Amino acid sequence: MKVNDHVDLTRVGPGTVMGKFMRQYWIPAAMSSEIEPDGAPLRLMVLGEKLIAFRDSAGRIGILDHRCPHRCASLFLGRNEQNGLRCIYHGWKFDADGNCVDMPSVPAHQDFKSKEKAKAYRTAERNVLIWVYMGDRDQLPGLPSIEANLIPDSRIWCLQRSCNWLQALEGDIDTAHVGFLHAGALTPDDLDEDHPMRPTVLNRAPEYRVTDADWGTMYGAYRPNDDGRMSWRVAHFMFPFWTQTPNIRFATRAVARAWMPMDDTHVMLFDITGGVDEGNPAYSTRKDGRPLCGGPIPYAPNTSGWFGRWCARDGEETDWGINREAQRSNLHYSGIGNVSMQDQAVTESMGPISDHEFEHLSPSDIMITRTRRRLLFAARAWRDKGVIPDGVDDPAVFFQARSGSYLHEPLADWSEAYRQQLQQAVRWPQPNGAQIAR
Ligand code: FES
Ligand SMILES: [Fe+2]
Repeated sequence: MKVNDHVDLTRVGPGTVMGKFMRQYWIPAAMSSEIEPDGAPLRLMVLGEKLIAFRDSAGRIGILDHRCPHRCASLFLGRNEQNGLRCIYHGWKFDADGNCVDMPSVPAHQDFKSKEKAKAYRTAERNVLIWVYMGDRDQLPGLPSIEANLIPDSRIWCLQRSCNWLQALEGDIDTAHVGFLHAGALTPDDLDEDHPMRPTVLNRAPEYRVTDADWGTMYGAYRPNDDGRMSWRVAHFMFPFWTQTPNIRFATRAVARAWMPMDDTHVMLFDITGGVDEGNPAYSTRKDGRPLCGGPIPYAPNTSGWFGRWCARDGEETDWGINREAQRSNLHYSGIGNVSMQDQAVTESMGPISDHEFEHLSPSDIMITRTRRRLLFAARAWRDKGVIPDGVDDPAVFFQARSGSYLHEPLADWSEAYRQQLQQAVRWPQPNGAQIAR
């Protein structure tokens, strides 16, 4: 990869190519559960900017630059009270839109609060997720129709990773690693006949079909199943930094994963899943009942720091908890038990920003090269010609993306097979909460 491509893809701060591009979209900022009315403000690092999130007494969400516009004391220290956040330095108070609503340290006849404003971003909340808009449009674009976030009882969790957003995201669109990093110790006999992971274990070198899509890029990885049908794993990249991963039942579940760049060397994963067979234990275990994923993510306790939320207990300094005996005995192929920590270890081990000039990409990386190219073209088209990024003015396009695995007749046209599967799938939102198939 050329140096300027590498820089344009990986840097996300204000004024960078990718930073300007990402700011055209609504950005996932925090889980709804992370801020309570009149609760402590939350430090957020988003695209290299230090922000404060709070929920006022009425439940409205404010996301502000953390610096008080008076003399830059951090509003993190502020008092969240009576529908506003009050700076503890001189008592100026700001509402969720950033308006200064009280200036008690200034004599009444010199008060200029109506002219003062904190730097505030527009916010939205949908189901389990808080969103922030950091672009400069007066007229807001719609929230993207990302299906997993349209399901009212979807589940969400976060995990912070200490590396550039791109290398973290690329793990999600790299099906070939699953047969090794996650499933290298499994044999077909370990899994039920209809287990979605079984074809991966039967054939660890899939072939790919890749294409651009209205929402980004998509791939289908295919390999013959042992019943004569073709196994497909279909997955997506969605602008600007979302994925849908294939390791679920296509017909009944929806997943979306945001790799929100906190800055150039830290990324926050928001993982949202929902669907009718959510949590079906049969698919997270082997035939003998032993878990596939090696238990829950070992988190470090959250702190209130800029990089304090949803960190893993292990990192480079503890070798990500690798257990050489478990590796040798094939308890886990990697020697690392938890599936998210397996991903965490390999992508953090690349370094804070992976050196893309050092890579030697292979045919199994075709989705990665396609996605990098699509991102670069779209980001530069916005910078150079003002071409509105895909999905900003047409947020419904994201609803056409659904990931998962299925078996299909061999030789069928893969995009036609995808359309058929999508038509038969259970979709959300559903009127009156009823399950419908379209
Ligand atoms: S610095 Fe915030 S009120 Fe003075
Ligand atoms: Fe993975």
